[in-house]
Amino acid sequence: MSSSNAPVKIGICGLGTVGYGSYTLLQNNRQDLARRVGGDVMVSHIGSRRLRPGQDIGNTRYSADPFAVVNDAEVDIVLELLGGIDVARPLVLQAIANGKHVVTANKALIAQHGNEIFAAAAANKVLVAYEAAVAGGIPIIKAIREGLAGNRIQWLAGIINGTGNFILTEMREKGRAFAEVLQEAQALGYAEADPTFDVEGIDAAHKLTILASIAFGIPLQFSKTYTEGISQLTQQDIRYADELGYRIKHLGISRRTPQGIELRVHPTFIDEDSLIANVNGVMNAVMVNGDAVGSTLYYGAGAGAAPTASAVVADIIDVARMISNPESGVPALAYQDDSLSDLPILPMAEVRSAYYLRITALDQVGVLSDITEILGDCAINIEAIIQKEPRGVDALSQRVPVIILTHEVQEKKMNDAIAQIEALPTVAERVMRVRVFRLDA
Ligand code: HSE
Repeated sequence: MSSSNAPVKIGICGLGTVGYGSYTLLQNNRQDLARRVGGDVMVSHIGSRRLRPGQDIGNTRYSADPFAVVNDAEVDIVLELLGGIDVARPLVLQAIANGKHVVTANKALIAQHGNEIFAAAAANKVLVAYEAAVAGGIPIIKAIREGLAGNRIQWLAGIINGTGNFILTEMREKGRAFAEVLQEAQALGYAEADPTFDVEGIDAAHKLTILASIAFGIPLQFSKTYTEGISQLTQQDIRYADELGYRIKHLGISRRTPQGIELRVHPTFIDEDSLIANVNGVMNAVMVNGDAVGSTLYYGAGAGAAPTASAVVADIIDVARMISNPESGVPALAYQDDSLSDLPILPMAEVRSAYYLRITALDQVGVLSDITEILGDCAINIEAIIQKEPRGVDALSQRVPVIILTHEVQEKKMNDAIAQIEALPTVAERVMRVRVFRLDA
């Protein structure tokens, strides 16, 4: 096992969509991970029945038997990314018995055998981390377990199956057939090996079981989760929901009541104006209501190689930090103090943005061309322009609002242009500027 500052060695069991995604992310961000952990993190052994075409693992040690990874004395952290239960359960228990920490994305395993696995981990003083088991890349386990720890949780409700949400979205928006969309979800790596887990609600029930345990402090009780899928829904149901002002979403809901905890997964009518009703495609969203904080919402990609790998690697960092720097815990600024970088902070003048400009000009010949000439000289590209008829007070004083939307440009060029525009004798007031931020940039 690693001592302080020796590299933390990762063994990956299962090199499917999530396994290879996690391997790739560990390679790509290796330097950044070392700065967060305070020591190197390396993949030292991969166990997978086969390598798929296109998978490149360099000269990393490879075994066809994942148990070879679990029994490798060099490995500190085992990533269980096989899915299913038959092999994964004994493999995880063996890893724990061998004194290894485990990171898993396996919601079925945690929901159905988590009580046994966590007891074994506690007895062997190792960690089992499972952020990737629920809602893909959304750090919902950490949010409930740590961020909301001061609250008494009242309820949570979420879209926690990306495949199901993708199917419902495509059916509603494009009128596509259920089976065809499911096939596409499989091709995109969203669906479970057995896609009935997605469409019959079993996958969502696994995830809800886990969320309810950490929200309410109860043992994992998958068998008591009421489970209904989306396979009976038709285009008609989706259209009628629309007509009534609702969306149909497949939700996992868990609520504290005086009689006990509700634990249910089923298609649900939700008001079309609510945020969660507008969560589409493979995206997941979970609302959590606590007595102090009120309602909070967590949103992000719920399936797919890279988003799930994001959660797997976050767990690896948590465990690796504990191995490398057991005394210091999580660094105050996330990166170890001695590895903070001196990346420069951009002065505002260097920032690039698109702009909305409202220019109050006198209603005179040539004003617009003066303004556009200044923008042209400053190499600012205009995306849209509106000149309104003067109304009310503006009409009396013969002022016209000129509205311009620009393409992206450096702030200092815009400062220069605005100064020149404001200096025009035909411009009556300071220019109003609002920066545009494109969320998909
Ligand atoms: N099949 C799952 C989903 C994968 O579609 O959400 C992520 O758990």
